[in-house]
Amino acid sequence: MTNKILVTGGAGFIGSNFVLKQIGDDSVSIVNLDKLTYAGNLRNLESIVEHPRYKFVRGDVADRELVRQVLREHCPSAIVHFAAESHVDRSIRGPEDFIQTNVNGTFALLEETRSYWNELPQDERQAFRFIHISTDEVFGSLSPGDPPFSEATQYAPNSPYAASKAASDHVVRAYHHTYGLPTLTTNCSNNYGPFQFPEKLIPLMIHNARTGKALPVYGDGKNVRDWLYVEDHCEAIITVLRRGKPGQTYNVGGWNEKPNIEIVHTICDLLDEMAPRQEKPRRELITFVKDRPGHDRRYAMNASKIERELGWKPKETFESGIKKTVRWYLEHENWVKDVTSGSYRQWIETHYSVSSNTQP
Ligand code: NAD
Ligand code: TYD
Repeated sequence: MTNKILVTGGAGFIGSNFVLKQIGDDSVSIVNLDKLTYAGNLRNLESIVEHPRYKFVRGDVADRELVRQVLREHCPSAIVHFAAESHVDRSIRGPEDFIQTNVNGTFALLEETRSYWNELPQDERQAFRFIHISTDEVFGSLSPGDPPFSEATQYAPNSPYAASKAASDHVVRAYHHTYGLPTLTTNCSNNYGPFQFPEKLIPLMIHNARTGKALPVYGDGKNVRDWLYVEDHCEAIITVLRRGKPGQTYNVGGWNEKPNIEIVHTICDLLDEMAPRQEKPRRELITFVKDRPGHDRRYAMNASKIERELGWKPKETFESGIKKTVRWYLEHENWVKDVTSGSYRQWIETHYSVSSNTQP
């Protein structure tokens, strides 16, 4: 029997890694519904474009008629919902798209899923799963001595991005509680790896350091994030899809807390080693810039529940994962060239031209 998965946002960073991984499983077929915003890139999936178990549909998750049609036509046994606006800085400059896609889009998808699911035969209703992909940012910010976030931590979202994800998490929860829809939510920490759009810290720093541009570190560079290699996140999602309990949420993280400045140093040193330049060491490109408004100080995830109950564990260490990632970006200059044209340049100019240089 094939498991037909409707993936939303499968042309983005995590979604495309997930689709590429899952298509390797003969028992899985995939329909990818993606609006192709600036963050969605079909080049990520060009290796499977003709694959008999893969189909792409361009469209918005907030378009209920389209979602209804996709559900009726493809009859998925599961939905993995990645589609979202995902960049905090963009949410600060323009929150509206975040509310539209992350809140209204998730609601539209849930409503259509509910009526589709209601009409399934009993055994298929029971086997059906809706996996909602969320973030650790819904929990707010930790102080240095605080324990990591657990599934029981109270929500306290600080950015418009985090607030929109928190709102969608609540709606997903309510659809299980009220209607019995078999929803599960994963809250994951910061991901890194291949196909990440170079607006986020790690790919931005690799791109700028490779090409000798300034490396803009916000504030004092001591904000802490908990980093997870994207393939480990995809494995966690597959584990939750197969073994997770409907109505539950699972925190996913790499037990890998690092201050931003340490990440940037590591990238500089790796590039000096892997792509040497004649000029000065890349650490000298680091520029401390004006802090992000409302910048959360520290995120850290307690991932013991998914480890204990479902047997998932991250495989990659930060050292091995970051090396693979830097190598991938060096070997995929054309991909980077492609995604950093047009609207990317406009974003970089608007966003970084207003950041004044400051001392750490
Ligand atoms: P991304 O920005 O790289 O990709 C988002 C994808 O969604 C793109 O392909 C885009 O075209 C598509 N999309 C956007 N709006 C859409 C709409 N209205 N309808 C259909 N498709 C739409 O994001 P990502 O980093 O891959 O994140 C994927 C999911 O994982 C998001 O829900 C995000 O909140 C969550 N998450 C991300 C991270 C991270 O570190 N990147 C960590 C935890 C959770
Ligand atoms: P980011 O990759 O945007 O993820 P998030 O804000 O969702 O955690 O940023 C990761 C960290 O890096 C965050 O503390 C902000 C910081 N940062 C910089 O210092 N400079 C930058 O140019 C960017 C994009 C991020």
